[in-house]
Amino acid sequence: MMSRRKYVAALASLAAVNLSAGDLSAAYAAQASSAGKKVVLITGASPGGLGYATAEALAAEYGFEVVMSCRTVEKSAEAARTLLESRPALNVRAAEMPLELSDLGTVSAFAKAWKGPLDCLVCNAGIMAAPYGTTKQNHEMHYGVNHLGHFALTNQLLPVLRNGNEPKVVSVSSAASFLGIDVDDLEWQKRKYEKWGAYGASKAANVLFTDSLATREQAAGSPVKAFSCHPGVVNTNLARYILPDSMQEKKRQDEVGSQRTGKLFGMRTVEDGARCQTDLAANGGNANGDFYIDFNKPYRGAGMKWRTDSNADKLWQTSVASCEEVGIKI
Ligand SMILES: NC(=O)c1ccc[n+]([C@@H]2O[C@H](COP(=O)([O-])OP(=O)(O)OC[C@H]3O[C@@H](n4cnc5c(N)ncnc54)[C@H](OP(=O)(O)O)[C@@H]3O)[C@@H](O)[C@H]2O)c1
Repeated sequence: MMSRRKYVAALASLAAVNLSAGDLSAAYAAQASSAGKKVVLITGASPGGLGYATAEALAAEYGFEVVMSCRTVEKSAEAARTLLESRPALNVRAAEMPLELSDLGTVSAFAKAWKGPLDCLVCNAGIMAAPYGTTKQNHEMHYGVNHLGHFALTNQLLPVLRNGNEPKVVSVSSAASFLGIDVDDLEWQKRKYEKWGAYGASKAANVLFTDSLATREQAAGSPVKAFSCHPGVVNTNLARYILPDSMQEKKRQDEVGSQRTGKLFGMRTVEDGARCQTDLAANGGNANGDFYIDFNKPYRGAGMKWRTDSNADKLWQTSVASCEEVGIKI
């Protein structure tokens, strides 16, 4: 696993990239193309987050039909309603089923109930630095929500995606993946639980999952491509487990002011943060499986020694076994 000192150094170099965020919109706008009418499903589309901003950008700039999913149907409906109130012309709707990623049963029901085509899946939902907890099926929460729920969802939607128009799966990872992953202790049973380590490992899992998915789909002659990315450091609700309630309340009450303050500290706005995943969902990346931290540049730098075929394969096999335990056949 990467040492904390090296991780901080890696993050500092990424912050330099982050500070150029103001130029992002122009750079990506040049990429906006007539992607044609495509259907995209976005997980974790709650207002204020990257999923919501991605929904808006894909619908507004690329004309996608966007399905916004949240943990409950009420939340999905609220997300779609909020977006449509400000942009009534967008082709956006709420998912009809709840998508609670900490329950593989709910995930499976969601995938089975999916009707119609699907061209792109953005695995965006996530939690960060939460105290130790477990999912309905007893998996460590970061691993279960950030990785396993998306693994089960993606695999069950693959038959639909394979019939899609230039189909893509975009997994929203993080530079926190540089903290590394122990594929022999995905559930934190052999080591003392560490909340940042658990977040980092789940984000490394997003990258390894993408690598495996890209390789497997390509080998099977499938058109599905997979990409992962780090959105930058963005002022969203992700910090809910590390910020005091009072600060979160302040942020809720003054979203605009909070985005302005965040920018002063080199944080991206949600709109800028959503740029990379939006572009990957609409246009794809260079090579199948690539990980991005910035516009049009697959990341090949330090911090990813754990990104090996054997780790990707071990994670895949363990995830398949966890799904099969609850009757999900991969
Ligand atoms: N913000 C950053 O600086 C940053 C940096 C690197 C990577 N990322 C990644 O970006 C992605 C989006 O995060 P964000 O910054 O937009 O955070 P956010 O505002 O907290 O949004 C996270 C979304 O995930 C949903 N979610 C959480 N637990 C879930 C569960 N068990 N089942 C289904 N949905 C669940 C949340 O739903 P509720 O609203 O119901 O809780 C929310 O819609 C995450 O994968 C995160 O790791 C963010």
